[in-house]
Amino acid sequence: GAALSDLLLSRIRDVADYPKPGVMFKDITPLLADPEAFSALVDALAALCRERGADKVVGLEARGFILGAPAAARAGLGFVPVRKAGKLPGATFGQTYELEYGTAEIEVLTDAFVPGDKVIVIDDVLATGGTAEAALELVRRAGGEVVGLAVLLELGFLGGRDRLAKALGDAPLDALIAV
Ligand code: PRP
Ligand code: MG
Repeated sequence: GAALSDLLLSRIRDVADYPKPGVMFKDITPLLADPEAFSALVDALAALCRERGADKVVGLEARGFILGAPAAARAGLGFVPVRKAGKLPGATFGQTYELEYGTAEIEVLTDAFVPGDKVIVIDDVLATGGTAEAALELVRRAGGEVVGLAVLLELGFLGGRDRLAKALGDAPLDALIAV
């Protein structure tokens, strides 16, 4: 609700010109450091995991790990890491996505899911949507069924939600805060 959104937003710090001039960085470290706010955040994410009927929770390295892993544990679900390329042992699926300069790649283990596993993807921030789009594609290629994407903060002016329309299909996108 509005009270939760206000609490969470009050613990996110705007850092001007980071990581480069002209960018306003959304720093979640004050939220993570506040036990009341962090616990409320994890509870809200865990509730979304249950509402979506997820079997597994995917977190996106790195900041999505901080939120996704405790949410999974609190919801009584297993956690699957989607990692930046080269960090997972064994057979992986990889997906490249565009950055402002160049490309990046994320990976998931090929045996991360039982075919048909219902999967919710969790990350901290939805900006352009490139990271989430690649992650949703990876989940599907690994045999998971995407049942939702949940983020702490959606930066609406960057158009991520529109970009994700196709990748989400019928799966809902939930943002605890949208600016
Ligand atoms: C940030 C953020 C999201 C992503 C959002 O991750 O944590 O994962 O960018 O941007 P997008 O919607 O435009 O893809 P980043 O790759 O900077 O690194 P980190 O999570 O490892 O800190
Ligand atoms: Mg990230």
